[in-house]
Amino acid sequence: MSASNSPIDLAKLVAARRAVDFVESGMRVGLGTGSTAAHMVRELGRRVREEGLEIVGVPTSTATARLAEELGIPLTTLNEAGSLDVTIDGADEFDDTLTLIKGGGGALLQEKIVAAASERMIVIADAGKHVGTLGAFPLPVEVLEFGMQSTRRHIAALLDEADVSGREAVFRERDGARFVTDEGNHILDLHLGRIGDARRLATALNTVPGVVENGLFIDLCDTVIIGHSDGRVEIG
Ligand code: 5RP
Repeated sequence: MSASNSPIDLAKLVAARRAVDFVESGMRVGLGTGSTAAHMVRELGRRVREEGLEIVGVPTSTATARLAEELGIPLTTLNEAGSLDVTIDGADEFDDTLTLIKGGGGALLQEKIVAAASERMIVIADAGKHVGTLGAFPLPVEVLEFGMQSTRRHIAALLDEADVSGREAVFRERDGARFVTDEGNHILDLHLGRIGDARRLATALNTVPGVVENGLFIDLCDTVIIGHSDGRVEIG
């Protein structure tokens, strides 16, 4: 079974399609990044072409910008748009309080800025992303290249005091080289196992010199649309 028609991909697809029902003409829409968000962008593109939906999109990565352009979705920058009506994005994990781990695709910085500029953030995810406690998915932290080993040591010291069950910090690689974000930074993936206090950890991480942003999204998401592999959709 290929990735594009796997049960998980169907779950992502149905969640993404349902989310697009929330978009109306005249809206400024933040466009997330990742495979679930790509389904949403394709469905938005279909509505733009076939239904005359009039929106302007703000992409959260160069990959999403490229896809949206191919599909004929009018785009602008966040600076031009000012604020957004809604952002629709995927997540790597979410809990019952709608706290998220994001950044599996490396776009967490733009994703967080765009979500924070939006009146509403809708997360679209397959049911497997719903967890009781965050942390099984490695927490991405975007760091500057300058002094990155020193930044890693500061983060390791911070984790020694944190309410987590794992402490490994690994620089992300792609194709045998260090992963580079759209902003030219790197990603440190923190294998924490269990995050006891997400708010405290997020605040502590962002005080480390060299940390640009972390992948904990707190008080940003207000709706989650959960897709199941049998095609059912739940809204929470
Ligand atoms: C990218 C993200 C993605 O939303 C997250 O990784 C989920 O991806 P996918 O929809 O492919 O499972 O945060 O930075």
